[in-house]
Amino acid sequence: MLAAGCGGDEERPSGQIPVDSDPIAPSAYVKPLGAAVELDHALEDDAYRKRLITTFTSITPENAMKWEIVEPERGEYDFEEADRLVQFAERTNKRVRGHPLVWDYQLPDWLEDKDWSAPELREVMREHITALMRRYRGRIDEWDVVNEPLGMHGGLKPSVWSRTLGPGYMAYAFQVAHQTDPQAKLFLNELNAERPGPRARTLLAVARRLKESGVPIDGVGFEFHRTGTDAPSRRRIEELGRATARMGLSFAITELDVRDTAERRQAQVYGDAATVCADSPNCTGVTVWGVTDRWSWLGADAAPLPFDEDGNPKPAFNALVDPFLKGV
Ligand code: XIL
Repeated sequence: MLAAGCGGDEERPSGQIPVDSDPIAPSAYVKPLGAAVELDHALEDDAYRKRLITTFTSITPENAMKWEIVEPERGEYDFEEADRLVQFAERTNKRVRGHPLVWDYQLPDWLEDKDWSAPELREVMREHITALMRRYRGRIDEWDVVNEPLGMHGGLKPSVWSRTLGPGYMAYAFQVAHQTDPQAKLFLNELNAERPGPRARTLLAVARRLKESGVPIDGVGFEFHRTGTDAPSRRRIEELGRATARMGLSFAITELDVRDTAERRQAQVYGDAATVCADSPNCTGVTVWGVTDRWSWLGADAAPLPFDEDGNPKPAFNALVDPFLKGV
């Protein structure tokens, strides 16, 4: 916690996240297994930090790279939290997935409340993507460039981006991202697109069109916020893998959590997602959206994560990790 008397903007604890357990070696797994991480929890909750250090080989900043945090005023950047997470990842040999560059949530007011002309807004987007990707060039190898562009019924979601720039904002974002860091793998990330339906169809169609028209897109992210009863079947996840492979794209499971207090049913979903990713040559990894149930964005009662509130493994833990272990 903060020492008393640190006022002003010192709300967030400062200092590095201690590495007080043995970090898991990335080579333990067939591919990266990640968690979304919040700096404060890693600093203050010992169980969360220990499980993070010893279980996961990749980190996604849960919020630290979101627009309202890194660019609260136009051109004024605050990379403090993001830097500390990236440094922690480097000290523990973990890969970083950057998330998100262009999204319609967690935007600062200056960006959302203005009527932009298309050239101005393109410039705002270009400045932001360039600032983030330049800062972490060579240190972040996978980015969610466009996040959640689609609505429930599969059309483009109304947002400051789509209203002002039309669907072309996606191609533009990928182009700027690629120019800034040509080595980084660039993803289109979407919510609730795992099961068959309009959103899944549109997502795959958009990805195909981008790829076919020469836009530098590398992969599709399936967030995978599910419950034990609405999760896609293993066969369906395999289909998504094949569909993306046919387009010459990778895929990743980027925000896995399974809201279900029936632990066996929950473990089944974790196991299906992990098994298909581990077995699919074009899957770049699985990321779980949090570490322990205590700090899940869905609330502790939703119990969606592989570790309970105190950091004890649930059946979902083995289901998730076993397919990723080498040589078993
Ligand atoms: C969530 C975070 O987990 C919360 O802490 C925050 O309040 C809201 O955003 N899709 C995404 C993630 O791409 O960035 C979201 O993360 C969850 C849904």
